[in-house]
Amino acid sequence: MLLSQQAQTTLFGETIKSHKLPKTQYLGSKERLVRWIFENAPKEIESFLDAFSGTSVVGYYFKNKGKKVIVNDFLKFNFHIGKALIENKDITLNDNDIDLLFSQNKKSDSLIEDTFTDVFFERDQARFLDNFRSNINLLDNEYKKSLALATMSRSLTRKILLGHFAHLSALRYSKDPLRVKRNPTIARPLKDLFLELVPEYNNAVFDNEKDNEVYCEDTIQLIPKLKNIDLVYFDPPYYGCHPDYQAFYHFLETFVEYWKDKEFINGTKQYFPKKESGFVRKEETIDSFKKLFSVSAHIPFWLISYNSESYPGKETIVDLISQHKKVKVFEHEYQNHYGGKGSKKGTKEYLFYCYE
Ligand SMILES: C[S@@+](CC[C@H](N)C(=O)[O-])C[C@H]1O[C@@H](n2cnc3c(N)ncnc32)[C@H](O)[C@@H]1O
Repeated sequence: MLLSQQAQTTLFGETIKSHKLPKTQYLGSKERLVRWIFENAPKEIESFLDAFSGTSVVGYYFKNKGKKVIVNDFLKFNFHIGKALIENKDITLNDNDIDLLFSQNKKSDSLIEDTFTDVFFERDQARFLDNFRSNINLLDNEYKKSLALATMSRSLTRKILLGHFAHLSALRYSKDPLRVKRNPTIARPLKDLFLELVPEYNNAVFDNEKDNEVYCEDTIQLIPKLKNIDLVYFDPPYYGCHPDYQAFYHFLETFVEYWKDKEFINGTKQYFPKKESGFVRKEETIDSFKKLFSVSAHIPFWLISYNSESYPGKETIVDLISQHKKVKVFEHEYQNHYGGKGSKKGTKEYLFYCYE
């Protein structure tokens, strides 16, 4: 049996296969909540839009359930996860592709070496990334390119302490024997981490016999262009937790976009200027929710993730929803701390079920 396939037995005893998304590590990932989200979703739907998709873990769950899935995130490294694992039906990376990815590329550029040596990496790892990134362009298929980018993005979050790029402790800790003993991946070469993950990502590729789609746009701009969505899932950044995804994951975006036109600022070398989210500054969030709900009024069902630590509070969100839909609120209380301000013990995660 393939690694990615878990056997599930139905009430009637037959075995059905369900495919497994490689483990994610992303602030606000709904990996631990996705089953609860699905259980509380309307079942009679055919098409599902995961409108702030991040790791695509929610879209992937609905793909497994046979729905037509559309995922969207305004960051490119997340777009490639969707391309590789939601839209892609059957293209995987083979041994020749992997040889090509690791081969010496004389035309390789040096953006990562020049900008990030001694920030997150030693020079050899930074050079390896420049070379690898230029080889991705040589792959002969867009899904292979996305798979390689998604797999390397995950290798990077495994290598860098805490799995994000908003701190400068990664290099120091990767040389500290006590830290390395606790988490050996922070000292391992990216090549090894990538090779270890390739089978998991390859095995996660499957065809659910629907033409699934992926976009990389601002959700409020995208929704008016989409037709025939039965259910939209909103999981926007939560203001009050860690809403600025570009501050935490800027390096993944730089690796994927390989910017030619940005400045790299502050100690962590974030790119500047950033893309506009609409959910990062306190003064813009209520207006963004109003716009989001207004452009989505024609979609019969909405599910919205939110939590008790965020601004604006639950009552305001319910008020804004009520201008378009009826709403029921489900609650889930975190029993453990899972990383990130929004998933501490005692914090409540809400799911707004909105219907006509
Ligand atoms: C809470 S995370 C989603 C997590 C996701 N549900 C998961 O389980 O991995 C919010 C996502 O919204 C994206 N985002 C922020 N502003 C956006 C916008 N205006 N349009 C589309 N995506 C946006 C961020 O890049 C981030 O990945």
